[in-house]
Amino acid sequence: MKILLADDEVTIRVTLEDALAEAGHEVFAAADTQAALAVLEAETPDAVLTDVRMPGEGGMAVLERSMALDPSRPVIIMTGFASLEQADAAVRSGARVTVQKPFRNESMVSLVETFVRLRDLERENDSLRQRLGEEGGFEGIIGTSEAMQAVFARVRTVAPTEATVLIEGESGTGKERVALALHHSSLRAEGPFVAISCAALPESLLEAELFGYEKGAFTDAHKERRGRFELADGGTIFLDDIDDMPLAVQVKLLRVLQERALERLGSERTRSIDIRVLAATKAPLRDLVGEGRFREDLFYRINVVPVRLPPLRERAGDVPLLVQCMIERHGGGRDYSLASSTMSGLERYPWPGNVRELENAVQRAIALAGGGSELAAGDLLARDERWRGATEVPERVEPLREFLREREIEHLRRALVLTGGHRTQTAEVLRISRKVLWEKMRDYGLEGPGG
Ligand SMILES: Nc1ncnc2c1ncn2[C@@H]1O[C@H](COP(=O)(O)OP(=O)(O)OP(=O)(O)O)[C@@H](O)[C@H]1O
Ligand SMILES: [Mg+2]
Repeated sequence: MKILLADDEVTIRVTLEDALAEAGHEVFAAADTQAALAVLEAETPDAVLTDVRMPGEGGMAVLERSMALDPSRPVIIMTGFASLEQADAAVRSGARVTVQKPFRNESMVSLVETFVRLRDLERENDSLRQRLGEEGGFEGIIGTSEAMQAVFARVRTVAPTEATVLIEGESGTGKERVALALHHSSLRAEGPFVAISCAALPESLLEAELFGYEKGAFTDAHKERRGRFELADGGTIFLDDIDDMPLAVQVKLLRVLQERALERLGSERTRSIDIRVLAATKAPLRDLVGEGRFREDLFYRINVVPVRLPPLRERAGDVPLLVQCMIERHGGGRDYSLASSTMSGLERYPWPGNVRELENAVQRAIALAGGGSELAAGDLLARDERWRGATEVPERVEPLREFLREREIEHLRRALVLTGGHRTQTAEVLRISRKVLWEKMRDYGLEGPGG
């Protein structure tokens, strides 16, 4: 880092300059006020070390000027005499600290470094805060509605803590996005983010997946494996669909939450883990407690900070901005517009699949827009309800003829393999004439060397 060192005493200047330079810093030494002010202007140093009494106006003027130019820059005042009043005045004017001479040079070096590091952290915090406070959403989560602003405020407050967060919301409301945002805005952002769905796996597999196992712990455990908790060590684990976690696994999870420790399946050894826990649920967990499907003690451990994501139909005002965001996400750099009647149609629609469904609708409409730049109401709100809410919109659909041809080739191959290439038998299993078989094989290039 760049350091301004202002002192009229040669010995201090020289020895401290050496110590700072040795620690890898670039030092600009000044012997009087004038020279110090010139360095401030020309070099924008990261930190200022200044004596009080120097030729010219003195160190307080250097302090003032530095504060005027960059109030976040740390200024350290070195005084040759113990005047508490002066020290107070300096600190009131923004100096981080006044240090009385004589001091050990090494201490001064680490003091400067600490202040600069603190300043950097403050800056990082500021930019984080700015990012979080961005209008209309943060971390790619869109929402200007009051309900979403409340969610952002909650997320902003809780992200930098270690608190367990329970995210509740219908399918497609952005629970996973929020979990990621919490991780990214936390002090664990550099650590791993490990997500696991408690709904996707049967009980025994879920347990093995979460806790890991030793070789031989069960029939298929051919070698040892770390579980998701261990993989999340130093970072965040996201327990998605926790409402589907079987009771037997819930008991074990409780222990992990209470003790931050676990044993792999088939192992006696206790391993401690350093994780932050985030969880998501579609159903209100409290109701499940009432039904005996969720342990009450675990509920209190998980429901430390609840965040409820409102369904899209409760915040129709977010629809236009979301549509714009989805166009940017999926439009391939092109801009698309909507008739205002189409937009109000979208705002009125109840969106049972929430933002995911809206995203799918926009993707579909873009794919069907052809060369045009207007998204059609009929493509966004397909009339046939049966296709609605499909989890994924395919990127491309080949013409039916091509698709059928591929399926047919594949099927002919299978029949030929079955019969060992025997034509008559093949035609029989396929219930077609030998002539048709022969024609198809010729068309599809399936004829063997024997023709
Ligand atoms: N507020 C939002 N702003 C922008 N995109 C969003 C928002 N909410 C959801 N999405 C998008 O919608 C899709 C679904 O979001 P996500 O996977 O987080 O939902 P979910 O609540 O976890 O759903 P599920 O319960 O079905 O797993 C993602 O593509 C996500 O990027
Ligand atoms: Mg999800």
